[in-house]
Amino acid sequence: MFQPRIQAGDPPDWRAFVVPEQWGQFSAADHDTWNRLYSRQVELLDGRIVSPFMDGLRRLDLKPAAIPRLKTLSLRLKALTGWQLVSVEGIVPDAAFFAMLADRVFPIGNFIRDGAQLDYLEEPDCFHDIFGHVPLLAYQPMARLMEALGHLGVAACAAGQGETISRIYWHSVEFGLAAERGETRILGAGLASSFSEARAALEAEVPRPRFTVADAAATPYRNDCFQPLYFVADSLESVTARLEDLSASELLALGEAEAGRYGPANGEAQ
Ligand SMILES: [Fe+2]
Repeated sequence: MFQPRIQAGDPPDWRAFVVPEQWGQFSAADHDTWNRLYSRQVELLDGRIVSPFMDGLRRLDLKPAAIPRLKTLSLRLKALTGWQLVSVEGIVPDAAFFAMLADRVFPIGNFIRDGAQLDYLEEPDCFHDIFGHVPLLAYQPMARLMEALGHLGVAACAAGQGETISRIYWHSVEFGLAAERGETRILGAGLASSFSEARAALEAEVPRPRFTVADAAATPYRNDCFQPLYFVADSLESVTARLEDLSASELLALGEAEAGRYGPANGEAQ
């Protein structure tokens, strides 16, 4: 499914970034922050996000009451799609991050944002990582898509083209939209977990081009402000099929075609 793989070296050992889950260190205020974020976001997303997301919340028994225990949530997720969750202290470098995805492992930041500033986020916290990403990881097409991104990402990073796969990741599973039953809906975790950008992605006067791998690979992204455009996939399943078919050599050719057209990488994939 992923051949030929091009690897200049072994992928990094992602296990070096895993830390013990310390759920007991979350305070009552932290759980209250989760509660307020969760409740606000579910109300906003109803009817605006691809339907497997809400199904995932139910199937995983995710609730607003408290930050979930990763061990419990990971067991539920593993039973559904084989994915597991691990605790990390912050952003994992791209090469290790994609190596995690290739092994069906998703990193969860072991902290939550300051409840006094619900919309301010310096780096992905456990609300973004769990609420944004995990519900769709319970849906097989997304589970397969994320693994495909992992294998491609490992090859791209080994070849010095991490930016190419990061752009595809960013414009699909992080900040992408998708068509569903004739409507444009939220797909990406960065939108699913953001109160203000979820609305902007659907309502702002910005371009919403059709998602293609080549166009996503050629389009830089922003990690310091709202995106200037949002790609719309024909469906989540169509992105999965396309990326499972994409060989590492095809991906690297896309990156080489774009080399020199844009500046250096401007963000992390997560
Ligand atoms: Fe993310």
